[in-house]
Formats: sequence, structure tokens, C-alpha cells
Amino acid sequence: MKDKNIVSLQSVSKTYKINAHSSVGVKDITLNVSHGELVLFLGPSGSGKTTLLTLIAGLLKPSEGIISLFGKTIDSFTVSELQKLRAEKIGFIFQTFLLIDSLTALQNVELVLRFASKSKREVRRIAENIFRELNIEYLAHKLPTTMSQGEKQRVAVARAIANNADLILADEPTASLDTENGSIIIEWLNTYAKANNKCVIVVSHDLRLKEYAHRIIYLEDGRIINA
Ligand SMILES: Nc1ncnc2c1ncn2[C@@H]1O[C@H](COP(=O)(O)OP(=O)(O)OP(=O)(O)O)[C@@H](O)[C@H]1O
Ligand SMILES: [Mg+2]
Repeated sequence: MKDKNIVSLQSVSKTYKINAHSSVGVKDITLNVSHGELVLFLGPSGSGKTTLLTLIAGLLKPSEGIISLFGKTIDSFTVSELQKLRAEKIGFIFQTFLLIDSLTALQNVELVLRFASKSKREVRRIAENIFRELNIEYLAHKLPTTMSQGEKQRVAVARAIANNADLILADEPTASLDTENGSIIIEWLNTYAKANNKCVIVVSHDLRLKEYAHRIIYLEDGRIINA
């Protein structure tokens, strides 16, 4: 397992078709990402960043090309295998956070840990540790509806990394944060990749993130371009 790419895309394209109209999501993307790497995709609005991450997560099917996760093509997973993989090995930080409003921040994070057959006490301990590490203990018992965008963003990051996922997919993880808090998050993701030999893919238009990436890839109109 260790010598394989975590994520591999071969000539992947996604075209959205709505009635007679079609628009390019991403076009002809080839990519290999392995352990210990933080790869940053930079591109303007509409360049295909969210489409790319959603494809990698197996939440969207490519129109063309092959996507492999952990050495296996996505097509070869059954629906339940893919769900299990996502629950156990992939942490997704959504652009819109997707926190559950009726649960506190801590409960939102605990929810993803419940799948890993841990005791309630262990789940609480892990979740509290992550809040401490990210310096967001003060948010633990707040409901998402009472939090700022930046606060929700940090809880979304906590949730994504809680499971010790091998692959973190982060969609604009610093968009709602000031420079200081943005740096904390991206430094954390950088360390997470390096220290734990994990794979982190960040998509963003935030040029401040460049210094924290191990590799930078530019996207424009759905394509990888040479910078
Ligand atoms: N569900 C959809 N149906 C039709 N077209 C879509 C859909 N989602 C995205 N697109 C189109 O695909 C292209 C890429 O969109 P995408 O959301 O991946 O861009 P993005 O880089 O994430 O943008 P942003 O920075 O604004 O989040 C855009 O032209 C967009 O209009
Ligand atoms: Mg997007």
C-alpha cells in the first residue's frame, strides 16, 4: 500500500449537461498524488476546483478518464465499499462546510468518529484533542447557527481530520479566515501531510497558501496550465 499513489487521475474530464447545453467542469486532468504531500490547486472562480475534488471523492462520475483511489479504480468499488472508504479514509472539507445545524461543533466532529466503532468516551477524547490542537475549544459547545463563517470553517477542518484520514480533500479551507487563522489551518494541514505521511489536496484561489504547498498546480477553464 505504501508505495502506491493515494490518488491517480488519467485524462479525466467532466462535462455537465443540462438539457441541450453543456459546460466544462474539468478537462483532461492527469495527476498522481502520494503519501506525505500537500498539493495545492490554484485557480479562479469557475476553473473546476470543486468539480475536481468531488470527482476525487467519488461523489461525481467523470465523463471520461480513469480515477483510482488507494491503488484501485473507483469503478471497481461497490457503492457500499466506496461509502466505507469515504467514511474511514477520506476527510472532505466542503466549500459550504455542511455542518449539521442541530448539533454542537463537538457533536458534529464526534459524528464522523462514531463510524469507527469507538466507545463514546474515546470519541469525546479524540474530538476534544482536535479542538485543543486547532485552538478552537471555545467553539466546542456552540451550534453552527451561532458561529461566524470562519468559525464554521475551522470546525469543518476539525471534522475532516478527526478520523485520521489518509486523504484530506479541502475546498477553499481558508476562504473565510483572516491571515492569522488561515495560516494556522494551512500549517496544520501541511504538518498533517508531512508528519503522518498523509495526502492532502487543497483547492483554492488564495495565493497566501502557496508557501505551505509541496506542489502547486494551476487550473484555468478546467485544465491544468503551465504557470
Ligand atoms: N452542477 C453543475 N451543473 C452545471 N455546471 C456546473 C455544475 N457545477 C459546476 N459547473 C460548472 O463547471 C465549471 C467549474 O465549476 P466549479 O464549481 O468546479 O468551479 P470552482 O473553481 O470550484 O469555482 P469557485 O471558486 O467559484 O468555487 C463552471 O463553469 C461551473 O459553471
Ligand atoms: Mg468551488
